[in-house]
Amino acid sequence: MKSTAASRCLDLFVVLSLLPPFISASRIITDTPDLQKSTSTGLRVKEHSQIVAQHNRLRSRVQPMAANMQKMEWDEKLALLAKERAALCHSDHPPQHSSSFSHIGWNTNLSVYGVTSFSDVIDSWFGEGKEFLYLNGKCRENTTCQHYTQLVWATSSHVGCASQLCLREGDLWEIFVCAYFPGGNWEVKGQLVMPYKTGLYCSLCTSSMSGCFRLWDHVGGLCEKVQFPLHSCDVMIDGDCFMVSSEADTYYRAKSHCQERGGILGHIHNQKVQDILAFYLSQLETSNEVTNTDFETRNFWIGLTYKPLKDSFRWDTGEIPRFSSFAFGQPDNQGFGNCVELQASSGFNWNDQRCKTQNRYICLHAAEHIAQWEDGR
Ligand SMILES: *[C@@H]1O[C@H](CO)[C@@H](O)[C@H](O)[C@H]1NC(C)=O
Ligand SMILES: *[C@@H]1O[C@H](CO)[C@@H](O)[C@H](O)[C@H]1NC(C)=O
Repeated sequence: MKSTAASRCLDLFVVLSLLPPFISASRIITDTPDLQKSTSTGLRVKEHSQIVAQHNRLRSRVQPMAANMQKMEWDEKLALLAKERAALCHSDHPPQHSSSFSHIGWNTNLSVYGVTSFSDVIDSWFGEGKEFLYLNGKCRENTTCQHYTQLVWATSSHVGCASQLCLREGDLWEIFVCAYFPGGNWEVKGQLVMPYKTGLYCSLCTSSMSGCFRLWDHVGGLCEKVQFPLHSCDVMIDGDCFMVSSEADTYYRAKSHCQERGGILGHIHNQKVQDILAFYLSQLETSNEVTNTDFETRNFWIGLTYKPLKDSFRWDTGEIPRFSSFAFGQPDNQGFGNCVELQASSGFNWNDQRCKTQNRYICLHAAEHIAQWEDGR
């Protein structure tokens, strides 16, 4: 397989042909001292998360629906490469890198300064999708759609972007660059490899994916990569690793998400664990760390359910709880709550809740499971 160097040159040609007189005279604006200040910052951290969120939102709603579309993550190394490339102020030849980033896909847009934003540029890349004929795997004649096919390339799981002001013969331009890894737009014998496979969303995730990431509006879903290894534990307590989900789901789906990741829904066997988790979750609420709006409550599932036949609560492993931290007046079986959550409004003490409620959840990876992470997966 080879990359569609030709088609990338084509889109470059489209960009450059809009500006023929300026090319040879292009100058990087950072050479101009009085404008340096505005360019040295590039993008702010908040913009990084907006760019990734926008990519993921668009990727989740391709038509026809994608079965294997991966959730994208921001990558700082890619952002630096994008910045390097943006600094050239035109996009002939990507900088050469011998690193593991040799398979990088690029999307660029050069616009007159001030007329557009990064978000509009990404939307315009996605808008090229109307020129892409999925059945033929081709752009409509005389159109460009390679920005679109890179944007929705299913296996491009990392993105980093940068923008830069450019001074060309006294006019201000702005260049927008996104670098994708692994890159897409591969061709076999002149035929574009399909950017993604169609089918029910998440139905063709690979085994290294931990589950299906649903956006808050629940249109489509994206395959989500396992967040291994150890440092992704949100809280370590006595060798056990607790991970707090960023997305919300019903009790039983939350339970299977934990299992797909080789863990279980969290168990709380003593006051120490309860106290530490309650503290950690209360910090989450007050900090702005939770940027994901995909949850309906501020409560978290743990692996405890009411078993009517036994008329008692049991941990998912079947164990009878020896420790309990139900909030005052709980469990009250209100709304036939058979599943147990840590309830924000009662200081993350326990409450019985309807199992179909969408909560975030806590997965537990016991020390013996963690040992297996190092062997691959
Ligand atoms: C650059 O992005 C803007 C959208 O903000 C779009 O209108 C314009 O057509 C794009 N330029 C090219 C060459 O694709
Ligand atoms: C594509 O461009 C070529 C050359 O400019 C032209 O002859 C042809 O009619 C165009 N095709 C369509 C479908 O517009």
